[in-house]
Amino acid sequence: MTDRPADTSQPLSALAAEDQGLCRAAFAATANAHAPYSRFSVGAALVTASGTVFQGANLENASYGLSICAEAAALVAANNASDRAVTAIAVTGHSAGSRRDPAAIVTPCGRCRQMIAEFAALSDTDIRVLCCAGDLSRVLATSIDALLPHAFGRSSLTAG
Ligand code: THU
Repeated sequence: MTDRPADTSQPLSALAAEDQGLCRAAFAATANAHAPYSRFSVGAALVTASGTVFQGANLENASYGLSICAEAAALVAANNASDRAVTAIAVTGHSAGSRRDPAAIVTPCGRCRQMIAEFAALSDTDIRVLCCAGDLSRVLATSIDALLPHAFGRSSLTAG
């Protein structure tokens, strides 16, 4: 593997008030996590162009591979409301055990990046991704284009 990217995270307080609110909504959503297997509670909150916030929490299953991530749950909630113009999504998570530093940043898994990219393509826009520390102390503010460069997407199906 290559070197780790530089840490460009910043304190939560350095973010715009709206973004701070989204991070707090993601943190609140961790309370709804059903994570008896990993004991890693993840929460996500997204905002759409209409200003509506949708939250999601991870939902695990005894058949581990069937688990649903918090970001996916939030995107499904927006889809259920036919409100797909996502402009930003925040994610955070914390472990019930002592295996993990509470101040470590949570970034979306590969599948969630692909799902976020699909929503970005729908609106032909980039989506801001706020990757929050488990204790909300710091936030890595990035975007789906940065997290998933050279993405496979709808246009890949018809590319000449
Ligand atoms: N998880 C998420 O909810 N989002 C991610 O982007 C990464 C992983 C969940 C899935 C599983 O319930 C737990 O975290 C441990 O992998």
